[in-house]
Amino acid sequence: MTTAARAVFAPGLFDGQVALITGGATGIGFGIAELLSQLGAHVVLASRKPEHLEPAVADLLARGRSASSVQVDVRDPERVKAMVAQVVDEHSRIDILMNNAAGNFYAPSASLSPNAWKSVIEIDLYGTFFCSQAVLPVMKAQGGGRIISTSMTLHYRGWPMMAHATAAKAGVDALTKTLALEWAEHGVRINAIAPGPIPTEGVRKAFTPPPGSAATDVFDVEQAMDDHARKTIPLGRMGTPADIAQMVAFLASPAGDWITGGIFVVDGGEWLK
Ligand code: HXC
Repeated sequence: MTTAARAVFAPGLFDGQVALITGGATGIGFGIAELLSQLGAHVVLASRKPEHLEPAVADLLARGRSASSVQVDVRDPERVKAMVAQVVDEHSRIDILMNNAAGNFYAPSASLSPNAWKSVIEIDLYGTFFCSQAVLPVMKAQGGGRIISTSMTLHYRGWPMMAHATAAKAGVDALTKTLALEWAEHGVRINAIAPGPIPTEGVRKAFTPPPGSAATDVFDVEQAMDDHARKTIPLGRMGTPADIAQMVAFLASPAGDWITGGIFVVDGGEWLK
């Protein structure tokens, strides 16, 4: 994050608040954890993989931040409920839920196996629903909370080789609007952010065709991302996790108090091209 951007948010903005961030140990999720913890929140990073969680929490603690972790597979509603119970047990509250866990890969629809389809739909869409539903009673009892989900823009026009992810994220957008209407009466604000291309390790992996696939000969992920930034992003650069984290901080702050059911594109203008 640039110094100028950092100055936008008041130090201590999230003091005393607890933010639960799925997929919080890597990529965009970790960028969100960095900013929210810098602004005073205790961040709970959730992931399936201890090998991601441990170094991420250690990194934040070494910087004097307040952070902990919980292991979860968001596809499993019972594990999700146990995660929420554990966070409440350890930290008493959940002010912000960031539904950021995603599993995507680049693959032709014609040969996508049923399990491949199911895996992505379950992580991206079911996981968002299970986590949102599980935190509702906690937020309701507290008198409110904020739920923010990571969406995408690729389903606005369709995106070859991403049938599973585009379908799941279209569902996330629909959930954002519907849950916002249902849960406004409980003081829970629900929004989504649609990031443009952000070259995290996860995205590199998602866009790298598996060995032996028909696309391997014609697709160079690094070249494709460079070409993309130059030709199709009006603001002329790829995004960073901090670009998304800043929007999360705004929506989660009191400046967002009258904002719910919104899907906010943060992509340098890319989707309009
Ligand atoms: C075709 C694939 C595949 C690939 C996996 N599968 N990778 N099929 N092409 N590249 C198939 C497997 O063969 C299997 O089907 C099924 O998917 C499940 O695979 P598993 O590895 O057993 O599943 P699991 O361990 O649960 O892993 C889930 C996953 C994995 C989604 C497949 O990629 C994952 O955990 N990803 C998490 C990290 C991630 O992807 N982050 C992306 C974030 S980037 P069969 O039939 O063989 O059993 C992002 C933005 C992308 O979201 C868009 C940018 C613009």
